[in-house]
Amino acid sequence: MSAPNKSFDPVEVSTLSQENIDENVANAIAAIAGANSLDELKEVRLAHTGDRSPLALANREIGALPPAAKAEAGKRIGQARGKVNQCLEVRTLELEVLRDQLLLIEETVDVTMAAATVAQGARHPLTTIQEQISDVFLALGYELAEGPEIEAEWFNFDALNIAPDHPARTMQDTFFAGNEDSGIVLRTHTSPVQIRSMLKRELPIYVVCPGRVFRTDELDATHSPVFHQVEALVIDRGITLADLKGTLDHFAQSMFGEGIVTRLRPSYFPFTEPSAEVDLQCFVCRGASIDNPEAACRTCRSEGWIEWGGCGMVNPKVLVACGIDPDEYTGFAFGMGLERTLMFRHGITDMRDMVEGDIRFTRAFGLGV
Ligand code: DAH
Repeated sequence: MSAPNKSFDPVEVSTLSQENIDENVANAIAAIAGANSLDELKEVRLAHTGDRSPLALANREIGALPPAAKAEAGKRIGQARGKVNQCLEVRTLELEVLRDQLLLIEETVDVTMAAATVAQGARHPLTTIQEQISDVFLALGYELAEGPEIEAEWFNFDALNIAPDHPARTMQDTFFAGNEDSGIVLRTHTSPVQIRSMLKRELPIYVVCPGRVFRTDELDATHSPVFHQVEALVIDRGITLADLKGTLDHFAQSMFGEGIVTRLRPSYFPFTEPSAEVDLQCFVCRGASIDNPEAACRTCRSEGWIEWGGCGMVNPKVLVACGIDPDEYTGFAFGMGLERTLMFRHGITDMRDMVEGDIRFTRAFGLGV
């Protein structure tokens, strides 16, 4: 009987042969060199060093070898795997550098490229003038008052002493909300804010009220169904026409320059008594064009004065309607159109420019406040 031959290796496995291992290493190195991105390299790493890779499988066979052969085979496999891992590391570094370089190229910013421009708007002159006027009066201690654009007929007409048969009340001038009997209108002027202020506020009252108003006018060069007015109302003890005139002159100077004054021409408004038209001294020629063809003025048509608005002492009937004792309090009010004011102040000849919203018109007024 023969004894087992210890030096004989019955489980010498072909996968562990130097030849086979070298072939696997060569395959791995070729695949690593062929990987052109980190993602590709990840797959190569899995295929050649993962649990199911040829070298890992070969490694598993070592356990089946006789003890004497184990060390030798383990060394061979270890060296082979070390080599593959080293190649992987080198290629990883190379591909990381490549990725960073590509990133720099892809994300290059061309600082000379023309920027996409967004057209800049500007504030509408109607907005600006409402703020300018409000500021003039706020500086005098007035408060800003507002009222609804959809208004009760009573505020818009009755309380202002505008009788039911007054021409301004007919369908021609007034937009009614619903039918003519609804009692609700789109306010035809800012004067109803006078009434609201008198009913709501403590005396004395000093308010300025800019706002939008509506009349059934066709849109043309000098009319618009939607336009703006500013109203001022003062109710206090001892207020006289002189206070009204002084306030209007101050207003005129603030808007049109040092020394510009106003002139009052007798007129009629149901809610003021006495009433007057306010004329503004021409801020361009200051009257120098009157009877002087050599110095003709386009702004005032050489009249020296420009019609600006209406004014008067608050009619005692209006005070009474608002529960204010006319024996104790008096007041004044005035109101003017803002489109008109802008038109003569800036030489705007067509009202439509102000409502059409063309940015080229608005821009001409810049961003000034
Ligand atoms: N509300 C008048 C209008 O729209 C303008 C007006 C006139 C306002 C006289 C007033 C005033 O405050 O006293 O035509």
